[in-house]
Order: sequence, then structure tokens, then C-alpha cells
Amino acid sequence: MADACSAEGPEAYDTHSAPIMAPFVAALLDAVRPGPGESVLDLACGTGFAARAAAALVGPTGRVRGADIDAGMIRVARARGPEIDFTAAPADRLPYPDAAFDAVVCQQGAQFFPDLTATLTEAARVTRPGGRFAATVWAPLDRQPYFLAHERALRRYAPDALPYFTRAYVRTADQLTTALRAVGYGALTHREITSDIALPPLEEYVHGHLAALWGGLLRAAGGEEAVRGAARLVRDELAPRTAPDGTAVLPFTVRLVTGIR
Ligand SMILES: C[S@@+](CC[C@H](N)C(=O)[O-])C[C@H]1O[C@@H](n2cnc3c(N)ncnc32)[C@H](O)[C@@H]1O
Repeated sequence: MADACSAEGPEAYDTHSAPIMAPFVAALLDAVRPGPGESVLDLACGTGFAARAAAALVGPTGRVRGADIDAGMIRVARARGPEIDFTAAPADRLPYPDAAFDAVVCQQGAQFFPDLTATLTEAARVTRPGGRFAATVWAPLDRQPYFLAHERALRRYAPDALPYFTRAYVRTADQLTTALRAVGYGALTHREITSDIALPPLEEYVHGHLAALWGGLLRAAGGEEAVRGAARLVRDELAPRTAPDGTAVLPFTVRLVTGIR
């Protein structure tokens, strides 16, 4: 199955996602405010953006763990955060004892869990009473010009990728808060956060990012020319927003949902 996060490898995912994820990692951790000495779980951690930021906040007396179903993501996470304990595990079967964490965070993972309630039940189990939870998911595509351009490119060059692509943008805050409430979280909040993000020169960046996410399906559909064509289409869509030096500052919006165990 196509993986929406790492078609061409988790190293490429990490490099190309970093500028887009950075402001939202900060917002996610600000929502749970890990303090020195606390324990934090990064759920569906990917290559560990949130885990690395959490490690800096809990300091040497704290403990951060990351779990992700994808062993390749975990391999890169371990290389980039050697002081953090990363484990390959599905989010609904975590290898941690009850009440092990002061806070659980999940960045752009809740769209992909096959059973959201089962996964949040497991998150609740490993969180101590009074512990904090925060998750981000992308707002709908019509509010994300960069990803909307990706959607148009995939529609043209690799339509088979669309079902995998679109699921990242359809998880609602209501779905999350309803499931969190059902498994015992309280003090639920949700809000949207928009960040204007400066992307590197699009000529190279867009091709690399599309190849990192969708290279397998694009090449299966139309060889190397499909990757080049998709990148060209994205750059053309974004041309009105592109500066003379090739960079672009684009708005990205997430839904941030929080709760207390
Ligand atoms: C969009 S990526 C986000 C990764 C990371 N949280 C980040 O901020 O970059 C989604 C991640 O969810 C993971 N994932 C999908 N389904 C999962 C599951 N059932 N259990 C654990 N991880 C899962 C994927 O392997 C992938 O790393």
C-alpha cells in the first residue's frame, strides 16, 4: 500500500517535511507544555519531529519515547534523535505500561489510524490521570494552496494516489473530540492554527517533496516524466505566489485538539 508519508524513504520525508512541520511542532508542544523531568510520548512519531522538540523541553531528567508503525521511520528517528527511545509499534498496541506518560502528542497521525477510538483508548491507557493530550491534523485542502496544488498534480499524473492523499485532509476536530470524550478525556479544546511558511526555492523543493511522498505511484503511472510533470504543475499553480528568487511564503492550516486524561 502507498504510504502517504514516506514513499521514497523516511530520510527524504524528514528533509522535505521539516520546514512545513516546524511551526506546528512548536504549537503542539506549547499545548501540552512538557516540563523538566516529565515523560512524553510522540504517537505516530514518523522521523520524530515532535519527539526531538519534546526532548529539549523535558531535559536530561525527563524521558521521551516515540512509536510509529513504520520501521523505516523509526530507523531514521533513532538516527536523528539517539537520546530518544523510539519503537516500531501500532498506535493501538503500545508496548508501554499503564499511566507511563505525563503527556501524549500526535502530529498528523490521527488521520491514518484504522480505528480512532481504539487508538485513543490506548493513548488514554498509557497517560497518567491528569496527563495531557494534543494532536494536530491538516485543515481541508481548499485552505492549503500548496497541498491543493499537489492534489491537482496527482489527479493529472497519478490518480491512483488520490485516495491515499486525500485522507490526510478529512479528519475533523469533532471526530477527534468525540472519540477523546468517549475514551475518558475531559477539558477538550480545539482550534485552528495558520502559519505562513517560507518554502525553499520551488524549482528543486517541489520535485523533491513530491518524489519523497508520491514518487512510487507517480513513476508507476508515468515513469520519471510523471514526477517531472507533477512538479511542473505544482510550480505553475504556485507561480503567482512565487518570489523572483524562486521561494514562496504559503499559508498552512492545522486543527489542534487537546484534552486532559
Ligand atoms: C504524516 S506522517 C506524520 C509523522 C510525524 N508525526 C510527523 O510529524 O512528521 C503519519 C505517520 O503515521 C504513522 N502511522 C500510520 N498509521 C499508524 C498506526 N496505525 N500506528 C502507528 N503509526 C501509524 C505513519 O507510519 C507515519 O509515520
